[in-house]
Amino acid sequence: MAEQASIHGLWRSRWLFILAATGSAVGLGNIWKFPYITGENGGGAFVLVYLACICLIGIPVMIGEVVMGRMGRQSPINTMKALIKDNGGNPAWVGIGWMGALAGFLILSFYSVIAGWALYYVFQMMSGEFAATTAEHAGEVFGGLLGDPGTLMTWHTVFMILTIAVVARGVTKGLETAISILMPALFVLLIIMMGYAMASDGFAQGLEFLFSPDFSKLSWNSVVVALGHAFFTLSLGMGAIMAYGAYLPSGHSIGKTVVTIAVLDTVVALAAGMAIFPIVFSNGLEPGAGPGLLFQTLPIAFGNMPGGILFGTLFFILVSFAAWSSSISLAEPVMAWLVESKGLNRFKAGVLVGLIAWVLGIGTVLSFNEWAEIKLFDKTFFDTLDYLTANIMLPLGGLLIALFVAWVMRQDDVKAALEVENETLYKAWTVTVKFLAPLAIVFVFLNGLGVFAFG
Ligand code: PHE
Repeated sequence: MAEQASIHGLWRSRWLFILAATGSAVGLGNIWKFPYITGENGGGAFVLVYLACICLIGIPVMIGEVVMGRMGRQSPINTMKALIKDNGGNPAWVGIGWMGALAGFLILSFYSVIAGWALYYVFQMMSGEFAATTAEHAGEVFGGLLGDPGTLMTWHTVFMILTIAVVARGVTKGLETAISILMPALFVLLIIMMGYAMASDGFAQGLEFLFSPDFSKLSWNSVVVALGHAFFTLSLGMGAIMAYGAYLPSGHSIGKTVVTIAVLDTVVALAAGMAIFPIVFSNGLEPGAGPGLLFQTLPIAFGNMPGGILFGTLFFILVSFAAWSSSISLAEPVMAWLVESKGLNRFKAGVLVGLIAWVLGIGTVLSFNEWAEIKLFDKTFFDTLDYLTANIMLPLGGLLIALFVAWVMRQDDVKAALEVENETLYKAWTVTVKFLAPLAIVFVFLNGLGVFAFG
């Protein structure tokens, strides 16, 4: 296929693509979600399955997504159309693009609410609310926030405006400088937190919880959650990475680039776990406390360490920023499509996307208070969105992407676009996207649905 041009601009270098894609990958998924689902799913064994999913399924699928984006050089929907046309595939494959756009909306709607919690905590930290705080007080502050739809709405609104302000300008501008400073800063702060955790009584217990697997605690549902989270944390299966790949200049090995992103993402998640679990055990908290885990543990640490107000404020600023660079990528696939196919300018497209996601987000806000008792299959509105997107839509999208890149696209084109440096690794990748990853995803799905009686 002939090399296409992107109308949305290109990243200025491979390194900026890595930063942007890492900015997309590293977010609430790593710092907020990974620790609490690890806590809910029993620790070590879950972490092991999650790591296996990243290596065996996540990385290969991500390579596929980047390659498809770079070959199509458009929004995921139009990239799919171009690739289908060029390879003579069935038009129904464009569903990958549509499902991804929908998943992006749904995720953005609740992501913005949770990121709003982080924004709120910046100011709580700054005010000294957590000085010498106890676990009990930290729990009360968090409970107070969840019970207050007005405050939740305010910060949800602020975060959504921040997101749209960037996408309206175009992601390849603006974002680049910010990411290259703030991502490393977040990392340094996590190391400081790990240092603090290391000195606490619960450190050994925290590490044991994270890294010593007890498979008796693992259910098939936990495996479904681990697989879903591998997709969520790498921003896979909904076109975000495809959209960013569309702006990747040619001339670089995609495999190496992707492995770098996946390693950075995993390191941040593990660091967050290592900072949080020692505090959980030192303070007799419950590892399975759920979505509030981050917000109920770290304030205790910040409240009781020297310079805690400063570090705590900085930490939540950086978490908000990590969430920001992810939410931008959630909006980008649909943004690019509105610009290409509906003739909107980026500003109008941004307002439209932001407004729809904002309205949907109201459901998540209410699911923590007014609607807390309204449940479908024992799940609140927020739980349902989270489960539907991360555990069903993203893995399904990933499955289709693997199948498309391996079975529909001409393999010599794909190989050329990958700029393969190592023949053996290329062969291993081909086998994985052709057979291994799709079979593994289907297997996990079927077991998760309880179709097989192995569970
Ligand atoms: N990867 C992001 C995180 O871990 C979330 C995300 C999912 C972003 C899908 C884009 C697409 O927070």
